[in-house]
Amino acid sequence: MAKIKTTFFCQNCGSQYAKWQGQCNACKEWNTIVEEVIQKPEKSDWKSPTSTAKKASIPLRINEIDASKEPRLNTFDGEFNRVLGGGIVPGSLILLGGEPGIGKSTLLLQISLNLPYKTLYVSGEESQKQIKMRAERINPENSNCYILTETKTQNIFKQIEALEPDIVIIDSIQTLHSDYIESSSGSISQIKECTTELIKFAKETATPVLLIGHITKDGNIAGPKILEHMVDTVLQFEGDRNHVFRILRAHKNRFGSTNELGIYEMQGSGLREVSNPSELLISKKDEDLSGNAIAATLEGVRPLMIEVQALVSTAVYGTPQRSATGFNAKRLNMLLAVLEKRAGFRLGAKDVFLNITGGITVDDPAIDLAVVASILSSNEDVALQKDFCFAAEVGLSGEIRPVQRVEQRILEAEKLGFSSIFVSKYNKISLKNTAIQIKLISKIEDLVAELV
Ligand code: TYD
Ligand code: MG
Repeated sequence: MAKIKTTFFCQNCGSQYAKWQGQCNACKEWNTIVEEVIQKPEKSDWKSPTSTAKKASIPLRINEIDASKEPRLNTFDGEFNRVLGGGIVPGSLILLGGEPGIGKSTLLLQISLNLPYKTLYVSGEESQKQIKMRAERINPENSNCYILTETKTQNIFKQIEALEPDIVIIDSIQTLHSDYIESSSGSISQIKECTTELIKFAKETATPVLLIGHITKDGNIAGPKILEHMVDTVLQFEGDRNHVFRILRAHKNRFGSTNELGIYEMQGSGLREVSNPSELLISKKDEDLSGNAIAATLEGVRPLMIEVQALVSTAVYGTPQRSATGFNAKRLNMLLAVLEKRAGFRLGAKDVFLNITGGITVDDPAIDLAVVASILSSNEDVALQKDFCFAAEVGLSGEIRPVQRVEQRILEAEKLGFSSIFVSKYNKISLKNTAIQIKLISKIEDLVAELV
């Protein structure tokens, strides 16, 4: 084996050092110096006999490139497919991050067990027996899934070359270790080197690689930020407050939108796809309670009916409290000011608490009108009709502003059996003969007149 040359670079300013030191002399930053390989032996880690020579790329005219040639691999998991933008792109690197115990290993093992392709699940964290026990709970019949417990990348590549899998899953990137770097597994330079080797493998063989990544205390993926730049897709697996649902989000996606959301429920036999979350997010109650309103929101392309709850009560202390869960607190203050100014509500001496049920945070501005309606309802202590829902943004002058794709929201509300939906008068709606009544309003006063 030829000699491997490594050197130390400052991650901040790029200065080079012969050995490690705590502070960079040039930029004076602490803990930014990491080891990097600058020269590797000729016969490299990943070398497939057929691929390298053939795949040397030549420039192509952009209109000569055939993008349709790359069919996506179906993962047989509707939620996962949608978050990825329609399946796995061959040769892509997907990083899945999330808190310990949230179900990252379960999700990827479940996907590998449901795939009809040859999959290799490499685990550096659990033994083959442990994985088998978990697999038995999920789907005991699959002969295409291979389990390897190994942490050294060179050995993993050796097995990959022998097995030639269609998909490789690594659990987790922080446990991998490459011979070319001396530092221990999980260090910045190890993670970077192992990822580079995996990217090279994925791109040369068009085999997708799914990586599991640990996260740090503050919720970022452990390791260098550069890891997120290197991979094609970064997914985050998170739980809601009650830990009933698991939410899969794309933070970065080179092959699709990042607005999509996948919802799962953790059960005794693995993760169940929740394909109609609206039904779960709206609590079914018989009594009429004040302060509840339903918003017709959109997450990505999927309509989502969300319940908003408000509690308005007289402030006990001098300064009234305003608190919002799942909703921007500044935006709540703004909506309260609009209500005060435009609708004459004396909310100045009231505590206002707002909660989006289901533990979901939505950015969709169309939730505004439901927030206003729930505050009005709680303030007056009058329950709104249970089959009303709302989809509009509220402007500073109290105008009800149109929202995007309103027809899709109306159809979803109709499907779920709502009798009326409040939308802005300025939305262009060409729907005819809907069973749901579309109430067009233009200012906040109209809403007050309708509800109170
Ligand atoms: P795990 O997938 O190991 O999480 P991670 O890899 O993100 O650390 O664990 C998920 C949790 O889910 C674990 O506490 C046990 C639980 N679980 C179930 O409830 N049902 C199941 O079928 C499985 C396999 C796990
Ligand atoms: Mg795990």
